[in-house]
Amino acid sequence: MRPLVAGNWKMNGLAASLKELNALKAQLEAGPAAAEVLVCPPFTLIAQAAWHVKGAIALGGQDCHAKPSGAHTGDIAAEMLKDAGATYVIVGHSERRHSHGETDAAVAAKAEAAWRAGLTAVICIGETEDQRCAGDAHDVCRYQIDGSVPAAATWANTVLAYEPVWAIGTGRTPTSDEIAQMHAHIRQLLVGRLGAGARELRILYGGSVKPDNARDILHLPEVNGALVGGASLKSDDFLRIIRAV
Ligand code: PGA
Repeated sequence: MRPLVAGNWKMNGLAASLKELNALKAQLEAGPAAAEVLVCPPFTLIAQAAWHVKGAIALGGQDCHAKPSGAHTGDIAAEMLKDAGATYVIVGHSERRHSHGETDAAVAAKAEAAWRAGLTAVICIGETEDQRCAGDAHDVCRYQIDGSVPAAATWANTVLAYEPVWAIGTGRTPTSDEIAQMHAHIRQLLVGRLGAGARELRILYGGSVKPDNARDILHLPEVNGALVGGASLKSDDFLRIIRAV
């Protein structure tokens, strides 16, 4: 299983930001990474980014609609992402679940849309701080996996990202033990739900992954890569995380 280090630019990046991708590409060409590298820029930059990176870095969308086309103003179909040069799409990020009211069922439908278009779905789950304090983190992740990971998920079409909501953009992370325990729990749930093939399905950790903590996090058992927000915007920082694999 090759680890995946994925950058989520969120609503950041203008055409000028492509210089960060070019710098990253040059560094990866000079010294290939152990990990597969994915960048998910805003929709507006995917096609240009694809032209710049020429396959050296995988590209993904940050969301997609469940339908392939139609009267859905402002939405993006998985087929459009594929057409622009993406091979991945993030679905069910907590910022979409919380600010756009996305339910588990909606996230599952988006994952299926990703597969229909030939994209790999990066399905995000994770508990809020209140849920963790109440001791419910493991149950919340179980419900989210049951509801948002379609039964046809395989290691080849899906990546799971565990992102505790309270760790996103806060500089706080769970302890190494907590991350390892949650990833072991998630692995067990995935194998129970999808069968033995799910032992090969990559489980990423996300939430305040930085150059300074990446090595510790990325070497924990059942951590098969990282989903990185803020620290993916600067190629130097992102590269240090990639090199930590
Ligand atoms: P962060 O974001 O690395 O800035 O905490 C992670 C994410 O939201 O995917």
